Amino acid sequence: MSASRKLFQAAARSLLSASQRSSPAALLAAEGRTAALATLTNLGRKTLPTAYAYHKQGSHHASSGWGAFAAAVPAAVYMLQDQEAHAAEVNAAELERTFIAIKPDGVQRGLISEIVSRFERKGYKLVAIKLIVPSKEFAQKHYHDLKDRPFFNGLCDFLSSGPVLAMVWEGEGVIKYGRKLIGATDPQKSEPGTIRGDLAIVVVRNIIHGSDGPETAKDEIALWFEPKELVSYTSNAEKWIYGVN
Ligand code: RTP
Ligand code: MG
Repeated sequence: MSASRKLFQAAARSLLSASQRSSPAALLAAEGRTAALATLTNLGRKTLPTAYAYHKQGSHHASSGWGAFAAAVPAAVYMLQDQEAHAAEVNAAELERTFIAIKPDGVQRGLISEIVSRFERKGYKLVAIKLIVPSKEFAQKHYHDLKDRPFFNGLCDFLSSGPVLAMVWEGEGVIKYGRKLIGATDPQKSEPGTIRGDLAIVVVRNIIHGSDGPETAKDEIALWFEPKELVSYTSNAEKWIYGVN
């Protein structure tokens, strides 16, 4: 969390607890922090526009600043409560995660941004990403369920032949729908509009991998990433991507 965001949250929390105590003295004590809040121009204007506007207006028109401050409180409190309620909602939902990798052909063809943007625009959240060249042994572990297939050796040779962009994406239904975005294994059978349908032609160069179920996703994430490499955060977009009416 950035320092300005921490300051914003501290100020908003101060307003929230002061307003909950309903004491003018407590509210006044919080006013110092409100002043700091108002100086966070970029963050303040974006995340607390109403409170900021009230505060700013108040400093011109109210000599004590009290009226403006009192007017700012409900907006700040509402936004904090809304944010916290939303964070609790998202945590409670325990959004699922999947492992997605752009294979060496996708990386070499310059398709990283194209592929990442499809997951991003859908509304999924990126929680881990790294570019690595896996060893053949590692590739064999990744594709262990295919070890009896005739193409296993060639497949592992290929996966370990160059850089792979390994990622973890998070969101409601991301395992199953991620596979829909990717398309059928054989690009000749992938629908147009899917990643493989739009960007690949043959099965052995189908540019992307996606976990095929919850167990696989868990295993693959653990194989490719250390727990500390997975970044948990609340995206500002989440409240617009998910909702209950
Ligand atoms: P992936 O694991 O890579 O996401 O692909 P998938 O689930 O759609 O397909 P899977 O059956 O798991 O196959 C893994 C990868 O093996 C290559 N393949 N080659 N030569 C062949 O006939 C053949 N068949 C599959 C593909 O690259 C496939 O993605
Ligand atoms: Mg597979």
